[in-house]
Amino acid sequence: MNHKHWTNYWENGAQTSLPHDFTGNYDGEIFDFWQQRVAELKSGDSVLDVCTGNGAVALLIAEMALREGKQLNITANDISEINTGYILKNNPPAQTDMIDFISQTPLEEINIDKPQDLIVSQYGLEYSDLNQSASSIARALKPNGQLVFIAHSPKSAVFSFMKNEQAIYDWLAEVGLWRVFQSYAEEELNSQQFKKNVLSILQSHRPNPVFRGEPLFTQWLQMIAQVRSSSTAELARHKTQIKTFVEQHDFARLRCRDMLKVSEKVSNENWFTPLIDYGFQLLEKKPLYYDSQQLVGDCYQFCLTK
Ligand SMILES: C[S@@+](CC[C@H](N)C(=O)[O-])C[C@H]1O[C@@H](n2cnc3c(N)ncnc32)[C@H](O)[C@@H]1O
Repeated sequence: MNHKHWTNYWENGAQTSLPHDFTGNYDGEIFDFWQQRVAELKSGDSVLDVCTGNGAVALLIAEMALREGKQLNITANDISEINTGYILKNNPPAQTDMIDFISQTPLEEINIDKPQDLIVSQYGLEYSDLNQSASSIARALKPNGQLVFIAHSPKSAVFSFMKNEQAIYDWLAEVGLWRVFQSYAEEELNSQQFKKNVLSILQSHRPNPVFRGEPLFTQWLQMIAQVRSSSTAELARHKTQIKTFVEQHDFARLRCRDMLKVSEKVSNENWFTPLIDYGFQLLEKKPLYYDSQQLVGDCYQFCLTK
């Protein structure tokens, strides 16, 4: 499984998967939601945060536990490389010391020695193949332990945002710009051919006005303007910059594809059936609103009954 596109995201330094909405870690109603879970735990309890990314939820839980004077054993796992350098630099040691990070391990294959009191996830569990990960989670949880997570909702603003980004990437591919930029990055075209191809595409395809003002589209328009105004010698000098641009967008496009895929998956109300098959009982499912009005996902609470 290739998860370079997520490793790249965490490597670039982000605390959460919603950097446009949260400058640091999750706050507001999301913070309150996790605080309620911590209030139910006692010192010495163990918590596993699956598909943790850069450890946002694990760190929140550690922060809340410290405030409540509780010592928890927290483990945080991800299939991609967790950026522990970033985490240690941006969070107090008292919080980070409470967490063991397990990188590059798919949830489907995880083996946790000590059964956990609580398993949590935010915008994470639904990315795994639940047909396989349901058994990993059931194995890792104590009988009567709880599985609590916030999953994407197809009705949320994130979903519309991602759909829009996907439409922009589709347009770039449709008119041929994506291929031309990739070919230049992969050295299949020289600077002269690259510029000629870009100009020829722009002659027959005007930038779609529907996307005007979208930050992703603006980035591309700026790059295209740079290609237009640069001499071929200048383009050759800026090749590394163009290569990085293409690589970053390639990763971003894959993350966008992942997010849309999981949002579609959770729109099927039976998506969590494998959890039921492995002995989980759904205690509650409810929408979660941020700032009282913005839908940011659905909260699920399960209990392991066998
Ligand atoms: C949208 S991010 C959420 C990260 C974090 N929970 C947060 O809210 O900031 C989804 C994460 O799931 C991870 N992931 C995807 N499939 C996975 C799997 N099968 N096992 C473990 N982690 C996975 C990705 O690498 C990525 O870091």
